[in-house]
Amino acid sequence: MTAPLDQTTHELPLKQVRKALPHDSAEKHVSGTATYIDDMAEPVGTLHVVPGWERRATRGRIQSIDLEDVRNAPGVVAVLTAEDVPGTNDCSSAFGDDPVLASGEVLFFGQVIFAVVAETREAARRAALLAKIDISPITPILTVEDAEDADTTVLPDYQFRRGSPETGMTASTSLLDGSMRIGGQEHFYLEGQVAMAQPQEDGGMLVYSSTQHPTEIQHTVAKVLGVPDARITAEVRRMGGGFGGKESQANQWAALASIAAQITGKSCKLRLDRDDDMIMTGKRHDFRVDWKVGHDGTGKIRAVEMEFLSRCGYSVDLSLGVNDRTLFHADSSYFYPDAQIRSRRLRTDTCSNTAFRGFGGPQGMLAAERMIDAIAISVGKDPLEIRKLNFYDGEQNLTPFGMPVEEYEVMHDLIAQLEESSSYWDRREAITAFNAENAVLKKGLALTPVKFGISFTLKHLNQAGALVHLYTDGSIHLNHGGTEMGQGLYQKVAQVVAEEFGVTLDKVHITATNTSKVPNTGPTAASSGTDLNAMAAKLAAKEIRNRLTTFLCEQHQCGEEAIHFGDNKVLIGEQSFTLAEIAKQAHMARIQMSHAGFYATPGITWDRDSATGRPFYYFAFGGACAEVTIDTMTGEMTVDRVDILHDVGHSLNPAIDLGQIEGGFVQGMGWLTTEELIWDEAGRLRTHAPSTYKIPTASDIPEDFTVNLYEGSGNPQATVYRSKAVGEPPVMLANAVFCAITDAVASLNPGEVPTLDAPATPEAIMKAVQDMRRRRAT
Ligand code: MTE
Ligand code: MOS
Repeated sequence: MTAPLDQTTHELPLKQVRKALPHDSAEKHVSGTATYIDDMAEPVGTLHVVPGWERRATRGRIQSIDLEDVRNAPGVVAVLTAEDVPGTNDCSSAFGDDPVLASGEVLFFGQVIFAVVAETREAARRAALLAKIDISPITPILTVEDAEDADTTVLPDYQFRRGSPETGMTASTSLLDGSMRIGGQEHFYLEGQVAMAQPQEDGGMLVYSSTQHPTEIQHTVAKVLGVPDARITAEVRRMGGGFGGKESQANQWAALASIAAQITGKSCKLRLDRDDDMIMTGKRHDFRVDWKVGHDGTGKIRAVEMEFLSRCGYSVDLSLGVNDRTLFHADSSYFYPDAQIRSRRLRTDTCSNTAFRGFGGPQGMLAAERMIDAIAISVGKDPLEIRKLNFYDGEQNLTPFGMPVEEYEVMHDLIAQLEESSSYWDRREAITAFNAENAVLKKGLALTPVKFGISFTLKHLNQAGALVHLYTDGSIHLNHGGTEMGQGLYQKVAQVVAEEFGVTLDKVHITATNTSKVPNTGPTAASSGTDLNAMAAKLAAKEIRNRLTTFLCEQHQCGEEAIHFGDNKVLIGEQSFTLAEIAKQAHMARIQMSHAGFYATPGITWDRDSATGRPFYYFAFGGACAEVTIDTMTGEMTVDRVDILHDVGHSLNPAIDLGQIEGGFVQGMGWLTTEELIWDEAGRLRTHAPSTYKIPTASDIPEDFTVNLYEGSGNPQATVYRSKAVGEPPVMLANAVFCAITDAVASLNPGEVPTLDAPATPEAIMKAVQDMRRRRAT
């Protein structure tokens, strides 16, 4: 009995993948029974660690630290400073510039100077306030401009250059330039940073950490304790959100908990207070972008010069990859014949900025959309026309970094479908009429594209491992190097493994990510979690199934075609067995039923030094159409309607993918409209709680919100079941909201490009409106 082949995929009919199944923990999430680290039972005698810092200091030399009162406070067991670090006092990913505890100098507001270890968290928190620290301040470098003046950078400048933008500018009919500020973003994961370290026999340490990168937790803890990696095990079952904020920035807290555990011999837990979390940890990079564009008079781009000045903070952290990705996405979806796209990675005396969903890409793309809007407004055409005029196509499909946009037809088709389904042109007319009739309220409309490169641009990160066991009762143990942060990775990988064995999902037991099961993993990031880990797990499962097949063929003297795994059964010709029966027989015959799968993304050849090769396996595409209304008297803004069409190839799980698209879009919208980080002139973050930092809530979801998956022919690359990554690209769908606000403001003074910066808070909108009125008056 062989099942017919699926005509489009030439695979057997699929039972477990491409199904809208709920997240494996959905019920536990909503009933409060999913275990996060702070919910785990604490071993008897667990101590609590609270970081200590100096609330008045930004940058300065430490003159003296008096911790007498802290030590003597009730419940305090130990107080740690830089001298107590047994190994290396550094928790950076690569560059050696992130002290776990300040030494000699405080580098930014919120840097940890000491840590209190006490019997209760409350006792540790109280004691931490009793320190007397004397710091002689140094005038801090805070802004992009400060850093430019002082010429302080964390990394050398980097750029892509094609042709001669200088000649291109000269050859252009029209030139436009501008400067735009793009704000940062606090991750605001619902579960804050947390780690619990438990000393084991023979100097071992088991560390539970809310991290996207367990291997880096292992390495960091080994480094700060001064022991070999093999002694350390890091484990994470799930995070209550990561969004990039736990890719490198979980290291410090795991390090502190582990040092405390090593010194006291007790289990130690550190859960950051929310304000401390917001103050101490890095955020999305904020930018000033200076741009210049030359076009042919009709709006077709001839040459582009862009300079991205980013505030990296006091150390490198992930600023190399983040700023590179900004450059990789500074084209959005548009062909720039001659281009120079440059990045300056500025060092400031502020927290060290880090990964955030999109990893620098959103900032690059937003700058491109600003240039397009500026061209459209100045030539008096609809921005969508200018967008389409400059889209990559069959002739012009080479990005500034030399990778072709092979799927340009998908991009064109997707945008055309969205243009149609959103009734863009009818609504354009309606909005023009509305704006003519309304003096105070103004509407805006925008339809913007997304094209996001999938793969880590650091080549070696594009690998993954998985460990699959089949037990003799037919149940399957699944483990892999990816981490679960709510995005549904575990569920998708489980579906793929269930498919491979022909069983239902209840037969697959999902287990926590653990460095002793799958070693040397990369972070779960760059949206590639499923692409990498599901493939590794699929290969592991397939290997076990192949061994069973070989065994059965010998046993039953038949060919492979007689054996079929499906519907929780193993069919051998006309005979039907349970997987448990087969597993038991195979075990008796001494067949190995465990396998470690390994996958490395093919075809990636990027060489950063020469800026040549192929950085991405493929691109994910999307489009969003947003309509907004602004109040020109108050700056208030509402998002009235949003239509999204997004490309996930053949979805592994449409329910999860839709959730990622909705969530990503709303998070992007928060970044561009309400989330504003404010540092005072002394460099202190003033927005470190939900009272002053406004993330979107359920009620901010647009009233009219339609999200659809693009139905195409799947990923042309051989990804797992022809799916595409979905984690980050949807953030950039929110560019449509920002461009729609720009459109509304632009309606006040046709032909003038608004000076709107991101985030477009009511205050920023008001400023842009007033600037338009001022320009009209003069
Ligand atoms: N979705 C949820 N619910 N929570 C998260 O923390 N992080 C995002 C995205 N979606 C995140 C999320 C980020 S920054 C990335 S890189 C991807 O998920 C990582 O997971 P993936 O590679 O499995 O898509
Ligand atoms: Mo995501 S910013 O790559 O963790």
